[in-house]
Amino acid sequence: MLDVLRGKTAFPPPVWMMRQAGRYLPEYRETRKRAGSFLDLCYNPDLAVEVTLQPIRRFGFDASILFSDILVVPHALGRDLHFEEGRGPLMTPLEVAEIDGLETERFHVNLSPIYETVRRLRADLPDETTLIGFCGAPWTVATYMIAGHGTPDQAPARLFAYRHPQAMRRLLKLLADQSAAYLIRQIDAGADVVQIFDSWSGVLDGAGFQASCVEPVAEIVRQVHAAHPDVPVVAFPKGAGSRYDGYRAATGAAALGLDWTVPLAQARCLQKDGAVQGNLDPQRLVAGGEALSEGIEAILDALGDGPLVFNLGHGITPETPIAHVEAMISQVRSARK
Ligand code: CP3
Repeated sequence: MLDVLRGKTAFPPPVWMMRQAGRYLPEYRETRKRAGSFLDLCYNPDLAVEVTLQPIRRFGFDASILFSDILVVPHALGRDLHFEEGRGPLMTPLEVAEIDGLETERFHVNLSPIYETVRRLRADLPDETTLIGFCGAPWTVATYMIAGHGTPDQAPARLFAYRHPQAMRRLLKLLADQSAAYLIRQIDAGADVVQIFDSWSGVLDGAGFQASCVEPVAEIVRQVHAAHPDVPVVAFPKGAGSRYDGYRAATGAAALGLDWTVPLAQARCLQKDGAVQGNLDPQRLVAGGEALSEGIEAILDALGDGPLVFNLGHGITPETPIAHVEAMISQVRSARK
């Protein structure tokens, strides 16, 4: 996986899944019940290690992603946060006047259980399993801080950026600085790779994409590389469409996570400049059968000759049958050119 992220070709490609520890697994649901709330699970190193390892034990993925959430960053900055069954994350909407009062002093103390989870994971995982640390991109994190909950198109954050451009810039810069420090600590604790999730980069106009997605992510990559020049950074600007072109060069990301809407012809062009990761539609994994096998084959055919990390184009959904995950892994692993 590390070689591939640095630009080498491996076939069959390494494989893992976004949200590979999650509700589609009975052992996850059981541990989640024991933890109490979702956030209790994120901040409990014993249980967070356990759920991170569950999909590795069951499926033997090539990479393991720290179990946590992107919203622990605003939580560690003093914002309230809880997760409600069926509603997702809930926060008190951030106001302009509160930006300069975000509390950075206790940031790493608040996140120390997560660093502990990373340390234990690196010790417990097989040597050949790559450990991925992560954070949310400043824009995506800001959308939840501003709206206080998920929305279909992040209209509240877009409006906030138009009405208060300077405040938005300060917020994104603060989130970039804190997120970079957070990733650096994860690498110090044992993460081999870090990924930046920009799940809402697809809702911005051209100028907004440049200012709110490209520049803050580039800032994080700069700071991570200043501390750890050899650690690859994967960036996932979900929904970026034609703006994937040029994004790698503009941000310094080593590898691009591709959502399922990226056509494979475009993915091939993007792969000329380095590794790509993705991009099976998670609904193909729910459907199984030919929809699944054809989707996998198309990706391997189009991208198998270059640096590819096989993955979904977004997270696995709770209703996905485990047998379909097994079928996906076995098809990828048995592929021959
Ligand atoms: O990929 C992994 O296995 C690592 C763990 C991980 C989670 N969230 C666990 C989680 C990662 C990398 C994330 C990132 C994340 N969190 C993103 C970016 C990626 C993406 O999915 O677009 C975003 C936008 C969030 C915020 C978030 N967390 C939302 C909107 C929700 C609710 C939606 C849902 O699926 O319930 C969460 C909750 C969440 N984060 C769950 C998990 C396993 C489900 C919680 C549960 O057990 O009930």
